[in-house]
Amino acid sequence: MYSLLKPIFFSRDPEEVHEHVLRRLERSSASRWQLALLRAFAGACPSQPVSALGRTFPHPLGLAAGFDKDARAIPALCALNFAFVEIGTVTPLPQPGNEKPRIWRFPEANALVNALGFPGEGMHAVRQRLTMLRERHAPTRPVGINLGKNAVTPLERAGDDYQAVLRELLELGDYFVVNVSSPNTPGLRTLQEPDSLRKLLGPLQSITARKRPLLLKVAPDLADEDLNVAARVVNELGLAGIVSANTSVRRALVPAAASLQRGGLSGAPIYPRMLECLRLLKSELNSTRIVIAAGGIDSAARARETLAAGAALLQVYTAFIYHGPRVVSNLIR
Ligand SMILES: Cc1cc2nc3c(=O)[nH]c(=O)nc-3n(C[C@H](O)[C@H](O)[C@H](O)COP(=O)(O)O)c2cc1C
Repeated sequence: MYSLLKPIFFSRDPEEVHEHVLRRLERSSASRWQLALLRAFAGACPSQPVSALGRTFPHPLGLAAGFDKDARAIPALCALNFAFVEIGTVTPLPQPGNEKPRIWRFPEANALVNALGFPGEGMHAVRQRLTMLRERHAPTRPVGINLGKNAVTPLERAGDDYQAVLRELLELGDYFVVNVSSPNTPGLRTLQEPDSLRKLLGPLQSITARKRPLLLKVAPDLADEDLNVAARVVNELGLAGIVSANTSVRRALVPAAASLQRGGLSGAPIYPRMLECLRLLKSELNSTRIVIAAGGIDSAARARETLAAGAALLQVYTAFIYHGPRVVSNLIR
């Protein structure tokens, strides 16, 4: 079915298709029979339970942040077999994000570039949706919440934004991710510097009171030494682990993307560096801290290699776009 739909999708603007698909998934999320249809569409997925972050996951493969920024379609995404869904990036206030166009496909490389800049409805809208989901006892799996700052908030006040979103959604997420690694919000990635990291993460960890796991999401473009430092800060502050990694500014890994002046690269070409980052982080992190791996995982072989390198959980985004709704069942099987 997806091989029929894909050429139609790929003939249209990526962001329009994204909104169209998300709207359909949102509608399906409220209907039992449509969820059953999605389950059939997604194929049977064997169970391969994993314990991590104080939860049991039906298998290790979840959906990475950015696909469902505003928590609109969690039941449908679970019906598509994702073992967990990371929503967000959620910012305190609604914001439009960067100018369009801001998503580009590179099918020859199984890659995307996005320069979205956290468009979203803001934390209050997300709170309402997650609360409704709970009240309906909708069938869901663990939900991670990815935290960000508004573009208009000056960098020196960034901590206030992350704290506001964490406080607002604390009871509603199974884990939380501090996103300081998106290349599309000016200056954001400077928050990955050691002093800034400590200042930012310390108060957030206090808010969770260690009752909810808090993780840091890093950029694959960090130098090895900076990754080591990030891991040490995570150890020091007792965070649950690291999500490695976000999109890369090394757009020239895809020749056709080299002329783009902005955006982060995702998909197959960033896999080798993601794997290096994972190995480095695993060697520096205490054994009780975990890594959630994301970046170009698009085959069973890559999933297996990433797990063997020490990832506790895996995430995909770009492979979902290129391989469609059976991506999870195919990889897990
Ligand atoms: C269109 C798009 C939007 C994204 N938005 C976010 C985001 O809001 N927050 C975030 O932490 N990561 C975001 N990401 C990064 C993904 O979560 C993931 O880290 C990255 O794409 C690498 O995984 P992949 O190669 O499987 O896509 C986005 C990625 C894409 C392609």
